[in-house]
Amino acid sequence: MNFNLTNTFYNNSKVLFLFMFESFDIDEVLKDIKIDKKIEILKKRDLFAGKYKEICELDIFEDKGYEKAILIGLGKKEDLTRDRFIRAYGSGLSSFAYDKHSEIDVFIKEDIDFENLLDTISETTIISTYSFNKYKKEDKKSIIESVNVISFRKFIEEDFSKGIISGRYVNMARDLVNEPSNIMYPETLSDFVVDLSKNHDFEVEVFDKNEIKKMGMEAYYSVAKASKKEPKLIVMRYKGHPSSDEILGFIGKGLTYDAGGLSIKSTSGMVTMKSDMGGSAAVISAMCAIAKSGLSVNVTAVIPACENMISGKSYKPGDILKSMNGKTIFIGNTDAEGRLTLADGMTYGIRNEKITRVIDIATLTGAAVRAFAEYVTPVVTNDKEFLAKLKIASNEGNEMIWEMPIVEEYRDTVKHDIADITNIPGTPGMITAGLFMEEFCEDIPWIHIDIAGSSWLDKKKNNFIKGGTGAGTRMLFHLARQFSTIK
Ligand code: BES
Ligand code: MG
Ligand code: ZN
Repeated sequence: MNFNLTNTFYNNSKVLFLFMFESFDIDEVLKDIKIDKKIEILKKRDLFAGKYKEICELDIFEDKGYEKAILIGLGKKEDLTRDRFIRAYGSGLSSFAYDKHSEIDVFIKEDIDFENLLDTISETTIISTYSFNKYKKEDKKSIIESVNVISFRKFIEEDFSKGIISGRYVNMARDLVNEPSNIMYPETLSDFVVDLSKNHDFEVEVFDKNEIKKMGMEAYYSVAKASKKEPKLIVMRYKGHPSSDEILGFIGKGLTYDAGGLSIKSTSGMVTMKSDMGGSAAVISAMCAIAKSGLSVNVTAVIPACENMISGKSYKPGDILKSMNGKTIFIGNTDAEGRLTLADGMTYGIRNEKITRVIDIATLTGAAVRAFAEYVTPVVTNDKEFLAKLKIASNEGNEMIWEMPIVEEYRDTVKHDIADITNIPGTPGMITAGLFMEEFCEDIPWIHIDIAGSSWLDKKKNNFIKGGTGAGTRMLFHLARQFSTIK
């Protein structure tokens, strides 16, 4: 999709998007566009009142080149925020996206103003026109290719660029999550990442099951071993600041399927478990965005990819496993598998890759879903300054995070009587899962991000269709920007 800046109306496009507040004055709007009497009907305001998220399609401009105007209500002028603009524009666009038009004009008047305006428009346009229909005979998708933003302000086309990158890779993360597990499993995922390295400036190394075993990753390997699909430990290295020893580490949960293991899930609980690699999708996509932006920062991503299945080789409730960092783990429930894979992934990242700060990101707990549904991503950390950076990043990326509290007693629940720790520390489940991860961070700055709720939509919401959301992609991308002198 390409984005152009212009200060004239009537480009090649047949469609014009117009934003209006409740207080809109139609003559004001028409003064800029220099048309048309038929819009008079709007003066009666029975067709369109400019209410927040209101959409009105008008076939009015045929004589002047436009076939259609899409009016989008922004509500009260004083309530306008970037977030509300995204919801309104995105909803309007997504309901129109599959129309026959490949080019659209979008008029941004002076009264629409907030930071990163053009990035917001490019990102929202790309995200709102996403589809995943490749398995349907009729692949219905948006054909919008060109977006002309009409504005009388001094923007430059470069102002679209961050949004183009983040939108594109959010959609790639959604593709990865939406791909079913019979197609996307550890090996195909690692092949995909190797392919990405051919046109993105990072290197990839993939370790197979023998190497995983040899490195002492018993926690990770035990989860993986029941499946016929073999695990792949995927490591991506982006070296944008070679003279620095600082390496940001992203550990992404890559369960390409989670059946629960012997502590098997219910049928309904299993239906969406192809999405249990949402953390790795975010990490892979953020790495691409970072590399494409040429940021001056070192980032290493570690993805312990595998499936949690059932067979005679399954690991069992009651087992005690030795993790790569030496701690022994009691298995209370084989469905608490993500933390086992991430624990070894984190140890590998810290010890073998020498990462100096670590983020783990995972579809980790049902508790996170129950706490915030898809709206907010809960996090826990051992480092407030690091989290402050993630807060800025998540705000820039239009993702919402919330820090969960840690009280000392929660830490006690991770301990076990006959092993060092247990994989089912109990309630509050999101926080104690985070504290399980803390056991492996070796006191470097660490943040745990649980996207179990935010990474998946059971039904369309605003400009996001049902399915994977790409949650985490934008905040990790913008976090890396926080550490980069090149923005
Ligand atoms: N992948 C699930 C968490 C999940 C649940 C993600 C719902 C998305 C939607 C994870 O592996 C899991 O099963 N967690 C268990 C842990 C429990 C057994 C301690 C959970 O949260 O129920
Ligand atoms: Mg599970
Ligand atoms: Zn899982």
